[in-house]
This record gives sequence, C-alpha cells and structure tokens, in this order.
Amino acid sequence: MLDIEKIRQDFPILTREVYGKPLVYLDNAATSQKPRCVIDTITDGYTRINANVHRGVHRLSQESTDGHEHARRRVQQFLNAASDREIIFTRGTTESINLVAHSFGQAFLHDGDEVIISEMEHHANIVPWQLLQETRHIRLRVIPIDDRGVLDMEAFAAAFNEKTRLVSITHVSNVLGTVNPIKEIIDMAHRHEVPVLIDGAQGALHHRVDVQALDVDFYVFSAHKMYGPTGIGVLYGKEKWLNAIPPYQGGGEMIGHVTFEKTTFNELPFKFEAGTPDYIGTMAFASALNYIDRIGIENIAAHEQELLQYTTRRLLEEVDGIRIYGTAPQKCGVISFLVRDIHPYDMGMLLDKLGFALRSGHHCAQPLMERFGIVGTLRASFALYNTQEECEAFVQAVKRVASMF
Ligand SMILES: Cc1ncc(COP(=O)(O)O)c(C=O)c1O
Repeated sequence: MLDIEKIRQDFPILTREVYGKPLVYLDNAATSQKPRCVIDTITDGYTRINANVHRGVHRLSQESTDGHEHARRRVQQFLNAASDREIIFTRGTTESINLVAHSFGQAFLHDGDEVIISEMEHHANIVPWQLLQETRHIRLRVIPIDDRGVLDMEAFAAAFNEKTRLVSITHVSNVLGTVNPIKEIIDMAHRHEVPVLIDGAQGALHHRVDVQALDVDFYVFSAHKMYGPTGIGVLYGKEKWLNAIPPYQGGGEMIGHVTFEKTTFNELPFKFEAGTPDYIGTMAFASALNYIDRIGIENIAAHEQELLQYTTRRLLEEVDGIRIYGTAPQKCGVISFLVRDIHPYDMGMLLDKLGFALRSGHHCAQPLMERFGIVGTLRASFALYNTQEECEAFVQAVKRVASMF
C-alpha cells in the first residue's frame, strides 16, 4: 500500500487553493504535476551547473554533458533499450511522431503506400501523416473501434496488404482509457514485415514498457505526463531504422563535417538532435524516472486502477443521466463522460469554481468525437497523488453541478 498522504507532500502545488477551495487536480492525462525532486533538479541545474553540452572542454560543460548523457542512459534503462544510441530526445510525443512521419516518410513511403492508424488516435498521430500526404500520396487506413472503445482486431488483421508500410497506433487512448493489445499488434504487423510506431504518451507511465520484449520499432512519449518537465520527449527507435532514415532538422550537433558543398551527419543519437538540447530538462526527466522507480510503476498503476474502479462505480450510482465513454475491459485511469445534454464546457466551468481541475472538450481527438456523435466530453484522469476522498468529493460535485441544469 502506498502512503498517499506522504506522496502528496512531494508535490508542492497540491497545497494551493483555487477560489478559496482546495485544489483537486484531475487533469493528469493532459499533464501531471511535478515532485520536489524534479523542481530541485531544474533549480540546481540553472544555479550550479548550466553550460552548453558537448561543445566545451571546461568543467561546467563537462558536468552538463554528463548530466544530459546520464539522462539518456536513464531513459534507455527505463525502456530496456539495447543501446543509448536508440534514445532520441525531442520536445514531446508530437515532435517524435512528426520526426518519424517526416524521416521514415522520406526514406520509405511512396505514392500509393498505406499507413495504418486507428479511430482513437490523438491529432498528434493523425495530422503528421496528413502533412506527409502533401508530398507523398499515401493513404491512411483507419481501424474502427466498437462502442466500448475496443479496437476491432479482425478489421486490423484484414487491413494489411502489399502496400502497407507502417502501423502507427496509440498504446492507451487519452479519451477512452482503452489499453490496446500492442504486443499482439506488433507481432501481427511483423508477420507482414511491417514496422510499428507506438504512441506511448498515455502508456509509458501506466505499464512497464520493455521495448526489446515488445520488439517495437518506434515508441514515443512525453516527460511532462510522467511527473517530468515540459518540453522533453523521447523517440525510441531501433538502431536499424534510425540509421536508415534521414535527419529531421539541420543545424549544430547533428553534423559530422560541413562544407558549403556537402555535409556529413553525426552518429546516432546526435543525427536527430539539431541545436542546443534542453539538457536541464533531460536531467529533470531523469529525476522523474528515479522518482517513479522509487515508488514502483506497478504500484502507481494499481493505485490509479483503484481510483478508476471506485469513481466509475460511484458516478454511475450517484449521477442520473451520466454516460461514460470508454468501457473497455482493459482500461487506464481516465473517465470521459457527459451528463444528460449538459455542455461539457458549462459543467467544467462550474466544477472549476468548486476547485476541480478537469478537461472539457474534444481532447485533440475530433474524429473520435465524431465516431460517438458528440462534440466533446468532460474528462477526469488520475495520478499517483489523487485520493479516494478527492474522488468521492468529485462525484458529489458532479452530482451537485448537474442538478443546477
Ligand atoms: C495519446 C496522446 N498522443 C499524443 C499526445 C501529444 O503529447 P504532447 O502534447 O506531449 O506532444 C497526447 C497528449 O495529450 C496524447 O494523449
């Protein structure tokens, strides 16, 4: 059992009030709050260490470089990647997917080729492929889901053909909470010799991800949803793919030798990291990973699962006219819902006034909203530091607010 009250003391923001009410932060799928150790690493980094990485022979630059490269090895270890050359730092999941769409697209996608995605994708895993369509006439094949939010695996199996070049699919839906059977999907795709990108923005914190055991080709995620800083993301890619695709951006760091006639590129991972990286951010992310590992990713997942089960049951018992979107048997700590015909923004605004931070809207998944014939939902999403008392207070607040309409 986790000592949640003790854990809460690690997160300074949780003591603040909004409108004179204690903050109940239930917007964790958008971004999580940061523990003191992460904040301290950022403060210490700028107070004591700051110097640009890789380029200096002086002491501070060496310390910065060590911290930054240590963070890369920390991520490698977290994912059980075979090599730290397979860990590319980006600004987030979005940039990681754009990188793959651009570079894999340049190298391997031609007119008429197909990329498989699903109906539950975040815009970050839709729009980069559409941008690519401006230069390559590729086709997106969209795998449907059922009313519970479960992927249609028969349709998936039937979607492969000789034109399929990539599967790009989310690990966990940010709206429905559905946990997709990614191992099954990867194995299926590999039987067709098709590589797989997994959008792990909502997945990396709730499951122990072992990229070698999964045999996944690309796995991408963001630090800020994992108690880490904003502006840091990861692209894990198998070395054979990262070697086979061209750089994404040009500039410093990513070059081997530059003349006005021709430039050679640096080795992995630097080939994909043009310009000064956010090395203080990567160090802070390493602190977040240490924090997660100290608590145990399985313990975090179990706690969130308890909150999910409890809150789902209580909402269904207490709130007349509630509809929950996303009832897959394998589900993470996200509850998307609507009450009667009340607009999610109206309800979100009233809940805010009572101290509850939720997200209302389409959650960057408009095609999914269309699938369910709605404009948006309210979404509560749980983290390590949420308590059952907060969840009960939330249920009562939803009931109270709904009665005002
Ligand atoms: C499933 C999923 N994919 C991608 C993203 C984009 O992540 P970021 O904004 O950190 O790049 C999100 C963010 O909410 C997400 O939930």
